[in-house]
Amino acid sequence: MRPMLIAPSILAADLARLSDALHGMEEAGADLVHFDVMDGKFVPEISFGEILLRAVKRECALETDVHLMIRDPEKSIPSFIRAGADRITLHLETLDDPYRALSMLKEAGVKAALSIRPDTPVEALFPYLSCCDMILMMTVQPGFGGQAFLPDSPERIRLLAEEIRRQELSVDIEVDGGINFETLPLAVNAGANVIVSGSALFKGDLAANIRRMRAVLDEAEETDA
Ligand code: DX5
Ligand code: ZN
Repeated sequence: MRPMLIAPSILAADLARLSDALHGMEEAGADLVHFDVMDGKFVPEISFGEILLRAVKRECALETDVHLMIRDPEKSIPSFIRAGADRITLHLETLDDPYRALSMLKEAGVKAALSIRPDTPVEALFPYLSCCDMILMMTVQPGFGGQAFLPDSPERIRLLAEEIRRQELSVDIEVDGGINFETLPLAVNAGANVIVSGSALFKGDLAANIRRMRAVLDEAEETDA
């Protein structure tokens, strides 16, 4: 069975106190650090890049989950790998040759993932599933934290999960955007096993929120077994 993983998005953390956030994530049992890279072109804002990723790697031992919301990402793949990316997600909409980009990741020993915007048909991913370790399903428009989960997301996740089963593959399904304690069960019941959450986890007590999320996921796993 695919493990259920929690990936807090540090876009929602107080970046002036990033080391506290990273240590808090580790202590509360988060699995991945979700790292949103925005270039002001593919999405309107500019966030952070390789230099901050290096700092994150120095400060904490968690696996890094790098979400590249940038134009022309192939050019930046080598530098993100050097900076310590463990998983890299590329947006299908930004790639000339998805097979070539995914094989660059695989050859470097990095987990390879594709993502699509919520308005791109899920079927567009189907030819590439066998080259992916993970698919990141955007459940909001990429670009900003704190948006509301789009209501057609569970249906899209289900469609993807069915196709992964049909092709007899084992591919993680990550959900990203608007995941809170109300929307989490919708995503998990539809087939998601890697959970990105920013504003819902960093609002209030981070450690308590991560533990609460873990309890919900443990329960989902038990009913599944
Ligand atoms: C949005 C980013 C998300 C964002 C999620 O483009 O990819 O990772 O940080 O934040 P919340 O959980 O607040 O929607
Ligand atoms: Zn993200």
